[in-house]
Amino acid sequence: MSAVHNQAQHHAPHHAPQHKAVYKAVLSGATGGIGRAMALELAAQSSHLVLLGRNAAELAALAEMLSRKFPVLTVSHCAGDLSQMDYQNQVLKHCESLGTGINLLVNNAGANAFGPAEAQSPQTVAQLVQVNLIAPIQLTQLLLPLLKKQVQSTVVQVGSIFGYIGYPGNSVYCGTKFGLRGYSQALRRELANSSVRVKYFAPRATKTAINHGAVDKLNAELKVQRDTPEAVAIQLIPFIQSSKHELKIGFPEKLFVFLNQLFPGVNDKAIRGQLPTIQKYF
Ligand SMILES: NC(=O)c1ccc[n+]([C@@H]2O[C@H](COP(=O)([O-])OP(=O)(O)OC[C@H]3O[C@@H](n4cnc5c(N)ncnc54)[C@H](OP(=O)(O)O)[C@@H]3O)[C@@H](O)[C@H]2O)c1
Repeated sequence: MSAVHNQAQHHAPHHAPQHKAVYKAVLSGATGGIGRAMALELAAQSSHLVLLGRNAAELAALAEMLSRKFPVLTVSHCAGDLSQMDYQNQVLKHCESLGTGINLLVNNAGANAFGPAEAQSPQTVAQLVQVNLIAPIQLTQLLLPLLKKQVQSTVVQVGSIFGYIGYPGNSVYCGTKFGLRGYSQALRRELANSSVRVKYFAPRATKTAINHGAVDKLNAELKVQRDTPEAVAIQLIPFIQSSKHELKIGFPEKLFVFLNQLFPGVNDKAIRGQLPTIQKYF
């Protein structure tokens, strides 16, 4: 099931806040914790914003709120399941119909299922790989011809610190986020002489619905620092405008990534020490 809606641009009142209409952006997972906060950041800097998510009513409400808050913005939404190719083609048609084209794709939709590797059903494994890895790859491929037409475009893949560090209870999730990082690096190099830049945005633990009860309790017991979605989203536009290819959010997480790459044994030992606590929440 999917739906496409356009919303008319509201006329700016004289006292409208200054609006830098730089981006014609597509954002997936717009109804989620980080996505909703990113939608607000993007809305302030965009002329066009296309919101993607599965819940049409939530998307419509978000679009309505954004078009009231940012009168210069044209916001539209397209509801559906990103694991369905039909829906992805519908997103392409919608973007083609904008007339202006698009110059920013933020692949933010994602899912996780915390638990022991052997307990993950084949359906869960397939769904995680589909949503976190295959869908962003396919949507990027579909929208690349549109992105290439612009003077400068950016694809942001929302990965994770778990796209650098394999962590117990998250084996499939880590596999998908490592995979997305590999895809992003290869594509960035492939497109180096085009107008499209490819970036990997890696939050650490963030307070959203993706972390269900057990994960929240585990993070609290391990004293893992958790960001608010707003603190994560505020880093998106400076990152897009920077020359950085990857953004790892948070310290000591950056240090753990560095150690994991150069001295993986250090992280092996530290995580081995946490294992009984992690397994308690399986
Ligand atoms: N929260 C964290 O700790 C954390 C840390 C690092 C990275 N991340 C990454 O940040 C991104 C956003 O996550 P979040 O924390 O904001 O989680 P969230 O609140 O659960 O939001 C996930 C979003 O993805 C959408 N989505 C899930 N499956 C979909 C599907 N099959 N088709 C279309 N949309 C789908 C959801 O739509 P519905 O509303 O329809 O379900 C929702 O909008 C994800 O890529 C996640 O891996 C999160």
